[in-house]
Amino acid sequence: MTLRLSVIGTGYLGATHAACMADLGFEVIGLDVDPAKIEILRSGTVPFYEPGLDEVLARNIAAGRLTFTTSFEEAASFADVHFICVGTPQAAGAQKADMSQVFGSIASLTPHLHPGALVVGKSTVPVGTAVQIQAQLAKTAADGVEVAWNPEFLREGFAVQDTLHPDRLVVGVQSQRAEDLLREVYAPLIADGVPFLVTDFPTAELVKVAANSFLATKISFINAMSEVCEAAGADVTQLAEAIGYDPRIGNRFLAAGLGFGGGCLPKDIRAFMARAAELGAENAVAFLREVDQINLRRRTRTVDLAREALGGSFRDRRVTVLGASFKPDSDDVRDSPSLDVAVAMSNAGAQVVVHDPKGLVNAERVYPHMYYDADLMTALAHAELVVLGTEWREYRELDPAALGPAVGARTIIDARNALDPNAWRNAGWTYRALGRPTA
Ligand code: UGA
Repeated sequence: MTLRLSVIGTGYLGATHAACMADLGFEVIGLDVDPAKIEILRSGTVPFYEPGLDEVLARNIAAGRLTFTTSFEEAASFADVHFICVGTPQAAGAQKADMSQVFGSIASLTPHLHPGALVVGKSTVPVGTAVQIQAQLAKTAADGVEVAWNPEFLREGFAVQDTLHPDRLVVGVQSQRAEDLLREVYAPLIADGVPFLVTDFPTAELVKVAANSFLATKISFINAMSEVCEAAGADVTQLAEAIGYDPRIGNRFLAAGLGFGGGCLPKDIRAFMARAAELGAENAVAFLREVDQINLRRRTRTVDLAREALGGSFRDRRVTVLGASFKPDSDDVRDSPSLDVAVAMSNAGAQVVVHDPKGLVNAERVYPHMYYDADLMTALAHAELVVLGTEWREYRELDPAALGPAVGARTIIDARNALDPNAWRNAGWTYRALGRPTA
């Protein structure tokens, strides 16, 4: 008989995992403690913007393979394998992860679990969590209930593709049975040739934070070069292209600009530093503090460039910020560099208007006092400065000549190095970018 799965938590990770596992042919139940989210999911739509996910969700609900609940008892009695996909945000006032959703969901699930159920952690957690949960389950759960850790590497904006065609699968297990169950779950992907790595608990947990730390470091490396290029009169985009041809370096994640944001990289490197310190290994990851600082300095630098472009003061100057989400193809505004810059300029006295194709509802929830406009042309009207902070395709494809008459002054800061400086200059714009003082 085919395995039945539950997915606990229906954020980006959980909703995608539930829909994609159902698409692989499993019967899946998704659980969230938020009844409003469950209602939206049951109706066949996703409560956030993720290209392609609505279709996968709707077709699996229609096929009867995917259902949703708010009841832990129902999820536990339905499934044999339970994926924990809840959030681990940065704890308030601290660098470390807030683990309350992980421990809370395990505590709610445990009393109802079948003997032999497998609890699979996918959330990004401090190393040492799986062993702690295993010890807790050994004391409180039915016989044979055990834990596995299976970190997730999906990117927002590519969640379906990354889940159905991952680069690799990593499973941390303590028994052959747990490994066999996960091989059964992922059989179609393994058959497609996806590498399947079996490790112990701490290695699996660390793979995830190591991967995100490496990616953050790569972005901050090129942004550090950007600072040097600004000081030396060089061009970071040419530098990145040139070093990226070396296959040992590679050109991906080498886009210099406003740096990384979102609900993952920033909080993951901070939580990693906090956990390493608890383990007495703080020196090993002390460089991540610099990675974080370089990243945040790009935001300050963009605000400084904007002030300079306006002649030294923001007071009552009209600025349009293009982009509220932390990256294109997402409505997620968590730790969004672009929104951060918009808020900083507004706090300094500018009249800021923020435009974004998908992220305005979330932005308004976090910063209700900011001014938003969903129409690009009215958002740009009378702007004395335009700041491109998120490189949505529709911004990349803007026609600088057509835009000219709409704005008050033709000055743009391309904080993502997403535009062609010559095209904008030829259309009469003053063009400034990060890491390209001479571009
Ligand atoms: C990241 C990782 O890429 C995923 O592998 C991981 O699974 C996920 O976190 C997670 O931990 O859940 P995500 O946060 O969706 O995925 O976004 P990324 O595509 O990694 O982009 C992160 C930030 O870096 C964005 O703000 C983006 O604008 C910025 N970035 C990216 C750059 O500034 N330069 C680049 O060259 C690439």
